[in-house]
Amino acid sequence: MNPDPALEPALARARDILAQSPRVAAFSGAGLSAESGLATFRDPDTDALWSRFDPTELASLEGFEANPGRVIDWYNWRRSKYAAVAPNAAHRALAAQTRMIQITQNVDHLLEQAGVAAERIYHLHGNMLYDRCHNRNCDHHERVDLDKPRQLRNCPRCGDYLRPAVVWFGESLPRETWVQAERLCRELDCLLVIGTSATVYPAAGLIDVVRQRQSRVIVIDPNPGAASDVADVHLAGPAAALLPALLEGFDLASTAR
Ligand code: APR
Repeated sequence: MNPDPALEPALARARDILAQSPRVAAFSGAGLSAESGLATFRDPDTDALWSRFDPTELASLEGFEANPGRVIDWYNWRRSKYAAVAPNAAHRALAAQTRMIQITQNVDHLLEQAGVAAERIYHLHGNMLYDRCHNRNCDHHERVDLDKPRQLRNCPRCGDYLRPAVVWFGESLPRETWVQAERLCRELDCLLVIGTSATVYPAAGLIDVVRQRQSRVIVIDPNPGAASDVADVHLAGPAAALLPALLEGFDLASTAR
């Protein structure tokens, strides 16, 4: 799929910025995986998750403690969706930039499946490929098979419930991953912001970190939003069409050689 010709001038400006940016990283959200068939959370005219489901019931500590079985059933439903999809051209274009770090809010495994090395992906909101013990003092983690969802069960180590290793509203982000992402953003020349409404903090605050040091922000999103409001260039279209065109021929890095 080729990008809309009307976007050529903006694409050229964005490519100029990349050509002058020794250190570039990507910051992504649900829009990156939309063209793989995964629903976003807030997209106005789509079957966005939070327009169909209540996040306080299904993606919060209180919701889980009130009805853990229902929350696990819902995540198993989402996991079955994840099992049925594949990376799109946007994931593949990012994976081709083998020296670039992917900071993502997504809990899916499509960047990994596209070939991005695990150590180059900062999952700020966790990863659906794992379950962890609900008890903060127990660090039991186990890999799950997306195709074979497990019912609500207890931790083999401490007996508390096991739950998806994702970050729920009201919970803090994985500390080490957050520190790494913030430190990286303080050293970047340019941040590619892909498919996020940039409304959920602290993750969205990474854009401010980059702006505060007068570094550049390129946004890829069909819709205007908080990120495009502060962008140097807003490429207003779908990631799977625009990212291959934007990144073609580049060998971008996030850290100095
Ligand atoms: N290409 C690029 N962007 C797209 C595409 C596409 N094909 N389709 C939709 N988008 C954009 C939408 O315009 C919107 O700006 O993706 C964005 C999705 O925004 P949200 O649904 O709010 O998702 P996200 O920003 O990732 O949500 C942040 O909120 O619910 C929590 O923990 C969850 O990580 C998530 C966080």
